Amino acid sequence: MTTLASPSRARRLAEATRPMHGELDSLIMAGQPFASRENYTRFLRMQYRLHRAADPLFHHAGYASLLPDLHERRRLPAVMDDLVALGVERPEREASPFADGIDAATGLGWLYVVEGSNLGAAILLKLAAKLELGPAFGASHLATPEDGRAGHWRGFVAALDAAELDDEEEQRAVEGAKAAFTHAVVLTRECFA
Ligand code: HEM
Repeated sequence: MTTLASPSRARRLAEATRPMHGELDSLIMAGQPFASRENYTRFLRMQYRLHRAADPLFHHAGYASLLPDLHERRRLPAVMDDLVALGVERPEREASPFADGIDAATGLGWLYVVEGSNLGAAILLKLAAKLELGPAFGASHLATPEDGRAGHWRGFVAALDAAELDDEEEQRAVEGAKAAFTHAVVLTRECFA
């Protein structure tokens, strides 16, 4: 059990995955996603595959009371709009990481990663403007949420921190966050290869 003195779950997940975020961030930027629209479409394919992988979580009834707005947080529809806007074919279906079902604690770690990626999106949105892409065209999945990026994130973190997990579940949440980052790294390597 965690004590009141321990840092929040969101902070702990951030600490546990900091090097992984660093690796992913460097890998994405090394692909120069904003050097041309062609490069940007590689990034978009990666985002599509990541959000599609996570999508079953956003439909999972087990989070209904903890995160009643979870379904509205989905960014897969926006990524799909961006693919259409840029005339990019949707990547083929692939095996879901949740094909065998969803463990709620593991899924929380995944959700932390997918929701957190909306913070870095502020920088990416600015870079996308150089390619004349933005919320209205081609980069809608990077748009600022209606309640603001910080407010939107705070809402998620409050719910994440409020979830009651035992020690094993806590560990599974960490493993889930790590698995999500590993998945994103693999997708980035594939999409920028
Ligand atoms: C799909 C790719 C990405 C994923 C999954 C991801 C994931 C995350 C996560 C989970 C957080 C929250 C960390 C926390 O708990 O405070 C975060 C924050 C952040 N990310 Fe990323 N990220 C991605 C790409 C990027 C890229 C490419 C950049 C930079 C060029 C970036 C820059 C940032 C920044 C600056 C923050 C912190 C913002 C703040 O604390 O206000 N991210 N990201």
